Amino acid sequence: FIEIGHYEYTDLMKVILSRSARSARLTTHFDLDFPKRPQTTPYWCHKHSRECTPVTEAYKFLRRYSIDSLKRIKEFSLLRTDAQIEFCHADSRQADIPPIDGVITSPPYVGLIDYHEQHAYGYHLLGLEDNRHDEIGPAANGSSKKTKQEYQQDIAQVLSLALASMPSGGFMIVVAGDRANLYDEIASLLAVEVEAVVQRHVNRRTGRRAGEFYESVFIWSKK
Ligand SMILES: C[S@@+](CC[C@H](N)C(=O)[O-])C[C@H]1O[C@@H](n2cnc3c(N)ncnc32)[C@H](O)[C@@H]1O
Repeated sequence: FIEIGHYEYTDLMKVILSRSARSARLTTHFDLDFPKRPQTTPYWCHKHSRECTPVTEAYKFLRRYSIDSLKRIKEFSLLRTDAQIEFCHADSRQADIPPIDGVITSPPYVGLIDYHEQHAYGYHLLGLEDNRHDEIGPAANGSSKKTKQEYQQDIAQVLSLALASMPSGGFMIVVAGDRANLYDEIASLLAVEVEAVVQRHVNRRTGRRAGEFYESVFIWSKK
């Protein structure tokens, strides 16, 4: 109905439906990120240490996310200014970056996630162009030595484009769970000043790895 009907807030409805679709998937509570097959029967839940049952209806999520989205829009309406904001849905290796003060980014990691696949319902509902062939480090390509080297080159290419638009002394902050130690090499390729590397404890709301997971925050500056 949302796709064919005429509503005043169609875009908002699509966002709410997309959020609800993610929560209403037939997955286990402890593996929301990388479900391997639909979970249709009750199962032992490692996250809640009890038997859990997969969802059987989406209404509660539609209700929850409708209320939550309205709350967020209200909060943001008090803060928003008339500042210009531009989103660019494109391959960041080819992006045309205007002058910037600095960068905070959480890039994809090598061999971990196929973003288009994981968010297929969102791409469909929001009518986003399918750019999966441009994903950097997709899970489908694995994490061989060669793939890791290509990943380092790709990330360095993206970040060097951003650096070219930054003033000397500007900060570049990169968040990555760098299990394969790839970012020291990326920093050398970029010839940035390494200001600090901070370990961030990720208190995941989803997944069974809660409490066991750290990621690095690389704080670099342009020489
Ligand atoms: C770790 S996520 C971070 C997402 C977002 N910054 C956030 O915090 O929610 C990495 C993102 O990079 C995107 N990505 C992968 N390859 C890309 C490319 N070549 N150009 C632009 N974005 C890309 C993925 O689709 C994914 O959304």
